[in-house]
Amino acid sequence: MTPFSQHDPAGRLRHLTTLEGVPAEQIRAILERAQGFLRSPGEMPARARTLEGITVANMFTEPSTRTRASFELAARRLGGEALNLDINLSSRAKGETVLDTIYTLQAMAVDVFVIRDAEPGVCQYVAEHVQDHVSVVSAGEAHLSHPTQGLLDALTVLQFKGGFRDLVVAIVGDIRHSRVARSSYQALAALEVGEIRIVAPQALMPEAEELPLARRHNVLEDGIAHADVVMMLRIQKERLAGTAIPDDHEYHRQWGLTRQRLKLARPEVIVMHPGPINRGVEIASDVADGPSAVIRAQVTNGVAVRMAVLETLIENRLQRGVVR
Ligand code: NCD
Repeated sequence: MTPFSQHDPAGRLRHLTTLEGVPAEQIRAILERAQGFLRSPGEMPARARTLEGITVANMFTEPSTRTRASFELAARRLGGEALNLDINLSSRAKGETVLDTIYTLQAMAVDVFVIRDAEPGVCQYVAEHVQDHVSVVSAGEAHLSHPTQGLLDALTVLQFKGGFRDLVVAIVGDIRHSRVARSSYQALAALEVGEIRIVAPQALMPEAEELPLARRHNVLEDGIAHADVVMMLRIQKERLAGTAIPDDHEYHRQWGLTRQRLKLARPEVIVMHPGPINRGVEIASDVADGPSAVIRAQVTNGVAVRMAVLETLIENRLQRGVVR
């Protein structure tokens, strides 16, 4: 069997299960397309008809509000249909059951599967078995990958900072268990951000060989000093099994982003967070609501990025000439 690739033989993206191995120019093209879907406050959201006749199935087996809603809105605003299913896809219902579910939905003319699952490998497994015209998009795979979040984070940096090269970006918190940290790192590294730092207590640092271009900091104050972008992450309590971490109060005391600490960063710093935020734990409420925070812009950008990804995959399918 040939090894799995998310690209078609001509190098066009067919699936999006990870940002690893996606060339910088394809990332830039998606961001450019997404920018075309951004609107000023007060304007109507962007709409198009490029997904007319296309059905997108959201299959989430882990909780999600913003990612799921934004994929649904993205499909609808492009004129496509969206289907939300609560299905157990992973090994809890493995083997034929997964494929039976997929084949059933294919028989109802689903074109894109958007999958979130706590277990590694489910997205790729599905992608390896779907028909030629079908695409699979990851909406979060275990602690490993959350490609559209990485793209929306890059879009947000671009929107507020105008570029990547001269920036210092600090990713702070539970890096070890975070798919957001991995995908954002991959996007930012591909886009050649000046300096990427990962800032975490030792217990929440990833293995030494992971995120190789990032500088590692074990003290929050050092890690955010002179940063242009501070990206805060929630502790992934659901993935912690056995890791000793301090309680919420103690974590906030050492690792919480407060107004006082934020003064160590550059004056025009932006503060990002993928959500859901825990006020008073990794981030103080007044920072989350303060002038540096761009957390709501990230949510808005999430719809634009998902529109851009869906449109790209469907356009690539047209270019491949495959029909349903
Ligand atoms: C993230 C996720 O689910 O990975 N949230 C999201 O997609 N908006 C981050 C998190 O849950 O902490």
